[in-house]
Amino acid sequence: MSDSKTKQTVDVLLEENRKFVPSKNFQAQAFYNNDSVYKDADSNYEEYWAQWAKKLDWISPWEKILEWKAPYAKWFIKGKLNACYNCVDRHVKNGKGSKTALVWEGEPTNDQGKPKDVLTITYDDVYLAVNKLANVYKSLGIKKGDRIAIYMPMIPEAIYAMLAAARIGAIHTVVFGGFSVDSLKGRINDAQAKLLITADGGFRRGKIIPLKSTCDEAVLDCPSIENVVVVKRCDNSIEMKSNRDYWYHDLVTNVDDFCPPEEMDSEDILFILYTSGTTGKPKGIIHTTGGYMTSVLATSKMVFDLTDDDIFWCTADVGWITGHSYIVYGPMANGVTQVIYEGTPDYPEKNRFWKIIERHKASVFYTAPTAIRAFMKWGVQWIDNIDLSSLKLLGTVGEPINPEAWIWYHKEIGKEKIPIVDTWWQTETGSIMISPLPGLTATKPGSATRPLPGIKAVVLNETGEELTEGGGYLAITRPWPSMLRGIYGDDQRFKDTYWSKWDGTYFPGDGANKDKEGYFWLLGRVDDVMNVAGHNIGTMEVESALVDHSSVAEAAVVGITDEIKGQAIAAFVILKEEISAEESLESELKEHVAKKIGAIARPKIIIFTPELPKTRSGKIMRRLLRDVAEGRALGDVTTLADPNVIQALKQKYEDK
Ligand code: PRX
Repeated sequence: MSDSKTKQTVDVLLEENRKFVPSKNFQAQAFYNNDSVYKDADSNYEEYWAQWAKKLDWISPWEKILEWKAPYAKWFIKGKLNACYNCVDRHVKNGKGSKTALVWEGEPTNDQGKPKDVLTITYDDVYLAVNKLANVYKSLGIKKGDRIAIYMPMIPEAIYAMLAAARIGAIHTVVFGGFSVDSLKGRINDAQAKLLITADGGFRRGKIIPLKSTCDEAVLDCPSIENVVVVKRCDNSIEMKSNRDYWYHDLVTNVDDFCPPEEMDSEDILFILYTSGTTGKPKGIIHTTGGYMTSVLATSKMVFDLTDDDIFWCTADVGWITGHSYIVYGPMANGVTQVIYEGTPDYPEKNRFWKIIERHKASVFYTAPTAIRAFMKWGVQWIDNIDLSSLKLLGTVGEPINPEAWIWYHKEIGKEKIPIVDTWWQTETGSIMISPLPGLTATKPGSATRPLPGIKAVVLNETGEELTEGGGYLAITRPWPSMLRGIYGDDQRFKDTYWSKWDGTYFPGDGANKDKEGYFWLLGRVDDVMNVAGHNIGTMEVESALVDHSSVAEAAVVGITDEIKGQAIAAFVILKEEISAEESLESELKEHVAKKIGAIARPKIIIFTPELPKTRSGKIMRRLLRDVAEGRALGDVTTLADPNVIQALKQKYEDK
């Protein structure tokens, strides 16, 4: 179908404002297909989660389901288990060792466009790999409770690195491979990691990302790191520091094939994952073992409707929570087969994702709205002649999906036949909270629909009153198993950020609208956190990176609407007195931010200004900066100390 025809159909579907009901066939086979599950779960939510927890293998059972003294929750008290055992050993023990766990595809292709590296990895293979790597960790002196930093491309060893840590009770902290030296350093130092595991490089859009050299620079300022383990992926030239750096393939040949899984308390920490906040310093979100594993097992099953025959593909990187919960722990606890891909969707051509689905017969595809908007822009010719008939379910995550992108996804990828689950959740929530149940929920394009069974989410106004309809703040009013247990090393920030707005109620920082049928429409962040291509970046983080440059005196950063990425970064910069606003400085500053934080934080526009609009108390009025950067009429300016500043800025921007 041509793009203009698609556009017409999209308009028609949107105008009708219709709901999309799962097909009779889908409903019939779905895991949940009776609405009573919501009521049943609500009537005793602790028991509901306990039933799910029983689907894990416990070394010893819990004595009590929940202890809740807001904001501190403990789930499955005194229960003992091991997360790695639940994702790997038990499948092998249950006779599923020869089942494919991972079908991995590297990015490079040959002249015919075929992938050069494809690996089919069984649960037996994963079992051997994680046992060996766990023994390697031990041989390097890692003990239960020690932190291991993981800075890897999307290769199977990234997954082994996480599971092997869990196996011996070490706490992993994965740092996304696109992050810079400073970002990696900050996270390692905050977590006080003893070991860093990385690769020589990773392939991305046809280039080699030199991960090891980034590690070398970072580790110079990371006194806690004792050793660096390096996977050979790209064979690019790297330096190995003797007595500190070791090749992964050398180490694994010298250890035993079996490492007993450590007995972990349900509330022992499984991992720390850093996420941006409203200050310059990222927050180390803590997740523990029993509750987290229960929630990710349950939600993988109910939201993606996973069966033994499914081939699940979540396109996230393991550096984000989506990769933790819906590549490593949730799907693997369910023992499913997954597709893992190393690279970008446009390499070598813009049909790579569709080719992967066709090649490996993926049945469930979970991606981000920003990717869907890019696919829309690239056009449907990239899907022509590709067989997507293996798909039974589609999902999205990371940011609100605009109805046009939803309809496009439904039409062009789902062929108007299969359900879409728009899943709202966060690093902090650990697992999906608001989402359709694919065999039950009539979906509306752009709405994540309603909270999952067992989850109580509401829309509140500023003073904490519940709104049955209309716009306000999203809130979660009772504990759930995979809730964050804190911010590593900063309990006060944990309380202030999430629990101080209303007493005992979790505040996620998102705005939401509830329609008259009770559907939730997520509206994005209400704090100073931007969402660029589905990734959280704090305005303060970018501002700190800018003022770190020798030419910059002050900076204010806002998120502005972007057609593909949802939001893009606009920076307003005051230069030091002696510096002039050259064009070359603009690109230099953009590069500087990318280098300080990572390419995802590179500002789209930089506007030089002699002053910033501030209130009389000195607070920068970002709302007005957003109006300027998006070319809108200015909103209310009455609280400004000097209204001339913003008028001049607007004029300057329009003249540019
Ligand atoms: O603003 C919400 C947005 O992403 C934030 C969480 O980001 P992060 O912790 O990086 O986790 C992303 C993957 C779970 C939320 O506060 N967000 C996530 N999913 C959705 C969403 N906004 C609207 N709709 C969604 N489905």
